[in-house]
Amino acid sequence: MNEKIENLLNEDRLFEPSEELKNNANATSAWFKDAEKDRLEYWKQQALNRITWFKEPTEVLDDSNAPFFKWFSDGELNLSYNCLDRHLETDGDRVAYYWEGEPGDTQEITYRDLYERVCKLSNALKSLGVQKGDRIAIYLGMTPEIVVSMLACARIGAVHSVVFGGFSAEALADRINDAEAKVVITADGAWRRGEIVPLKENVDNSLELTEFIESVVVVKRTEQEVNMKDGRDYWYEEIVEEQSAECEPEVMNAEDLLYILYTSGTTAKPKGIVHTQAGYLTGVTTTHSADCGWVTGHSYIVYGPLANKTTSVMYEGAPNAPDEKRLWSLVEKYKVNIFYTAPTAIRAFMKWGVEHPKAHDLSSLRLLGSVGEPINPEAWMWYHENIGNEQCAIVDTWWQTETGSIMISPLPGITSTKPGSACGPLPGIDSVIIDEKGNEVGKGEGGYLAIKSPWPSMLRTVYGDDKRYIDTYWSQHEGLYFAGDGAKYDDDGYVWLLGRVDDVMNISGHRISTAEVESALVAHESVAEAAVIGRSDEISGEAIAAFVTLIGTDVGDENLISELRQHVSDKIGPIAKPKSIVITADLPKTRSGKIMRRLLKDISEERKLGDVTTLANADIVSELQTRASDSDDE
Ligand code: WTA
Repeated sequence: MNEKIENLLNEDRLFEPSEELKNNANATSAWFKDAEKDRLEYWKQQALNRITWFKEPTEVLDDSNAPFFKWFSDGELNLSYNCLDRHLETDGDRVAYYWEGEPGDTQEITYRDLYERVCKLSNALKSLGVQKGDRIAIYLGMTPEIVVSMLACARIGAVHSVVFGGFSAEALADRINDAEAKVVITADGAWRRGEIVPLKENVDNSLELTEFIESVVVVKRTEQEVNMKDGRDYWYEEIVEEQSAECEPEVMNAEDLLYILYTSGTTAKPKGIVHTQAGYLTGVTTTHSADCGWVTGHSYIVYGPLANKTTSVMYEGAPNAPDEKRLWSLVEKYKVNIFYTAPTAIRAFMKWGVEHPKAHDLSSLRLLGSVGEPINPEAWMWYHENIGNEQCAIVDTWWQTETGSIMISPLPGITSTKPGSACGPLPGIDSVIIDEKGNEVGKGEGGYLAIKSPWPSMLRTVYGDDKRYIDTYWSQHEGLYFAGDGAKYDDDGYVWLLGRVDDVMNISGHRISTAEVESALVAHESVAEAAVIGRSDEISGEAIAAFVTLIGTDVGDENLISELRQHVSDKIGPIAKPKSIVITADLPKTRSGKIMRRLLKDISEERKLGDVTTLANADIVSELQTRASDSDDE
């Protein structure tokens, strides 16, 4: 059997960085040279230059107990000090966040404001008995308190575990139990498309399923009635009020735990990904200053931007509340320079229509980022033309919760980009694409993405489960970190991500990536979004089944379906022609926007479905089941 993943899709468009971008680039090609010459020295210099240490490390990498690597392990520091205190003297009045609530209320938070809010909450948490090393669950919407809570934990040495506000009571309880968290910080509710997400009520329900929580801190946001239990539940505003606005930062060892973040959705039992202090901060500050990021969670909305003293815009609600212009109005209002989003959002913008971005002045933008899934070349081009006005650099950034910071991405102003490609590894990152035997594949060939050498912001383990850490990431090939993603080199050696390895299809012995067939479908003028899976088939082993959503209000018909089959065949070859195509109004997705291909496979093979409540759009499932069983094979 053919062991390699096929290389089907070809892309000839190449975009050189403009003169303006070249002149304004923060990163330089010298970074690549330095890192190539001496990778550890490169990371050491980044760590020494970017971090303010209480005690500088003498050691860079300790690999004596691999794969349990340690970085800068005799150094001492505090991350909240690095994000706040050190900026105050010269830049206390600089805005850290422009925050806008979904209903339109706003806050302008300077570095000094943030410092004071963090110190007060730090003192309040201490007064509740929180000590260094304790775990704190944070279950909030996108309000400033989420940042304040993370930094307060970092300040006093508590370990934060942020649980996405869209998760159910049960999912929250699982995460509290796994981490044995002692406090949960939440709110009465969060705003989402004008409706209240009942956060406190969910917490109350989750506390029926866990014994660990001693105190609940509740931010007042949506102001509906909630249950407050005496001696356990405290209003945030009340417990911070009397506290001092100064709090000495705890001295942390470089390898003390900083946070646990659970990966969710597309895998079975969530894994608590563990990140520590100094290596993580080195990774996020380096990649953030390389202009690679803006707004994905921990790394690019909190630690990276604050440590680098930049200004971020934080928006609470849905991108289409009250209408589809909301994000573009924020870009115009705050003169945003860098915009970072996911392909699923870009495909939604495409479906909503160009009139929305066109209604606003987006000329402040100079860099556009994408993360979370392979970006289809068509979506990349649309982003480039309609959001970037052909003037912005686009960075497709590959990374994972596990990697802590961006690993594979073009450097703006330096790399010539191709629509749909993440281009190549950043300086200091040693990525390879290998075949099943662990040998690197050649140009024009596909295989499995792996990382050859440790990097500072890597995960340290799976919380409470060292064995799972080794089994999941380090057991495929001796000494290689296995990312679980398929990838290929094109003829120029550019890296293309092909989706999760579990999703790769085996069609008559050819290993074909879902991402390439999806990109071919999205390249058709009628298609907004596509999800492709391999479903078991008596003849070919697996057969390609596609699910597509259409642009605008088109509902499609049999003719369109045959046209789409032919289109895929023309674009990448008859082997990739879908056997069935189902047109649907929506695709099942996780809360972070990743398409749930496993669920589509279950639907196609008519299996009983498990719990679908963690989906962002659970109501689409039953419709898909009907449509899939009604659809005809070619
Ligand atoms: C996928 C998000 C293609 C990939 C930071 C990875 C991508 C998983 C890209 C991690 C990209 C992320 N191109 N695929 N630019 N970025 N992925 O942990 O499958 O939510 O393994 O981290 O998303 O998702 P996670």
